[in-house]
Amino acid sequence: MPTLLLTGANRGIGKRLAELYAADGWDVIAAVRNPSAYDGPGEAMALDVADSDSISVAVENLSGRPIDVLWNNAGVYLDKNVGLDDLQADAWEETFRVNTIAPIMISRAFADNVAASDQRKLVFTSSKMGSITLLSGGAYAYRSSKSALNMAVSVMTKDLSERGIRTLLLHPGWVRTDMGGSSADIDVDTSAGGMKSVVDGMTDGQSGAFLNYDGEEFPW
Ligand SMILES: NC(=O)c1ccc[n+]([C@@H]2O[C@H](COP(=O)([O-])OP(=O)(O)OC[C@H]3O[C@@H](n4cnc5c(N)ncnc54)[C@H](OP(=O)(O)O)[C@@H]3O)[C@@H](O)[C@H]2O)c1
Repeated sequence: MPTLLLTGANRGIGKRLAELYAADGWDVIAAVRNPSAYDGPGEAMALDVADSDSISVAVENLSGRPIDVLWNNAGVYLDKNVGLDDLQADAWEETFRVNTIAPIMISRAFADNVAASDQRKLVFTSSKMGSITLLSGGAYAYRSSKSALNMAVSVMTKDLSERGIRTLLLHPGWVRTDMGGSSADIDVDTSAGGMKSVVDGMTDGQSGAFLNYDGEEFPW
């Protein structure tokens, strides 16, 4: 059975991803801040993605266990509707810790587990809001955190390719979750189902790509 390690698995897009992978027969390791409150499928494992000690404990727990897909999905959008005048440095730093630095540190920490698997895929939930081509206004922290994630993953793709590890950056669409809000375009089924199909069908040539949830290429 292939194994998925998924962050942000307890709600929103992540919870639906956990359900879809479990329904497909995968072993799901749901990395969440509060395992005792997790009510989704698979095994819950404690992980605060922004805490290096928490990452070290998780690495110990999963030592020697192959991970076919490590999906860095946890994210925060702390500066929703915040413009230049109200921009806060603390919130910007926290956004970078969770959205940019954590996915890279977690991917590095579990690289041996991923390299030991059959599928060897690192997946990152990025965002259209990180696209410089499609820029609109506001949300300095969130937008820049996802642009920086895209760059950092591009660098990591080169570093890890010789170990046979492949990467994908995905825009999940504008999705009706706590983060996306109730007027967003699509539901979690459409987003998570679409992204899972893209990851399932990923080719070697797609490694490092930035794709929409429907598989279309996304402008950087
Ligand atoms: N919804 C959209 O329209 C949209 C659009 C583009 C991109 N995205 C991206 O899609 C991903 C999932 O978003 P969503 O809409 O499902 O958001 P959500 O419903 O707000 O869920 C966010 C998830 O991230 C987790 N998380 C946040 N900080 C964490 C930390 N320090 N350690 C561990 N987990 C942490 C949350 O866990 P807790 O419950 O413990 O807080 C929760 O599981 C994010 O990366 C987001 O940026 C979403």
